[in-house]
Amino acid sequence: MLTGKFISFEGPDGAGKTTALNSIVADLTPQLNDNLVVTREPGGNRISEAIRDIILDRKNTEMDDRTEALLYAAARRQHIVETIMPALKSGKMVLCDRYVDSSVAYQGAGREIGVDEVYQMNLFATAGLLPDLTIYFDVPSEIGLRRIMTHRTDEINRLDVEQLSFHKRVRASYLKIAEQNPQRIQVIDATQSKAKVVSDVEKIIYQANKGLFNKSGE
Ligand SMILES: Nc1ncnc2c1ncn2[C@@H]1O[C@H](COP(=O)(O)OP(=O)(O)O)[C@@H](O)[C@H]1O
Ligand SMILES: [Mg+2]
Repeated sequence: MLTGKFISFEGPDGAGKTTALNSIVADLTPQLNDNLVVTREPGGNRISEAIRDIILDRKNTEMDDRTEALLYAAARRQHIVETIMPALKSGKMVLCDRYVDSSVAYQGAGREIGVDEVYQMNLFATAGLLPDLTIYFDVPSEIGLRRIMTHRTDEINRLDVEQLSFHKRVRASYLKIAEQNPQRIQVIDATQSKAKVVSDVEKIIYQANKGLFNKSGE
């Protein structure tokens, strides 16, 4: 039986997910200690990281869209088995940077494979495991791309360099998924300052997990 809390962070590239996640982890760790597990997709273990390298390698220009979608799902499966399920089974809170909604938005809508096909294929990979809560960082594609191009120096990967129209399809798809899943997905205005984004997300997490935190965390 699962007793933990599974929270995914979603949104376009440059929305500020990783930046916010770092601050949130710093704020939550004193209260949750070992009961907080932070992880990212695709990756989190040896096999999934190897798959991640293949997906994001800019040399792999010949990669077929469905191959890409299957690789993401394969990496996700391994990540669930090695990281997410064990943590949830021992009652921990799992914060995951990207999950199934990313595949639906990027491969389903961005690559135009079809959102239903990609979702169905992911149901096989996940055996139906969805987050208890998803925070969606909403930002216009132009702003997200500008943030990546001007600020980020670590990695500009194969997906970042796609056309603006690709990123617009991704955002539109995310907004539709959020609209269709109002009980799971909370939308954050990610154009706000970093501090305001972090406080909005923390409010939602505290609200959804009353009892997990002591009073000082509220
Ligand atoms: N709220 C914000 N306002 C302005 N710039 C931001 C904000 N959040 C993040 N950034 C900057 O945008 C860039 C992308 O952020 P990042 O956290 O890597 O996005 P993501 O993980 O969603 O792709 C980074 O350089 C980061 O410093
Ligand atoms: Mg990131």
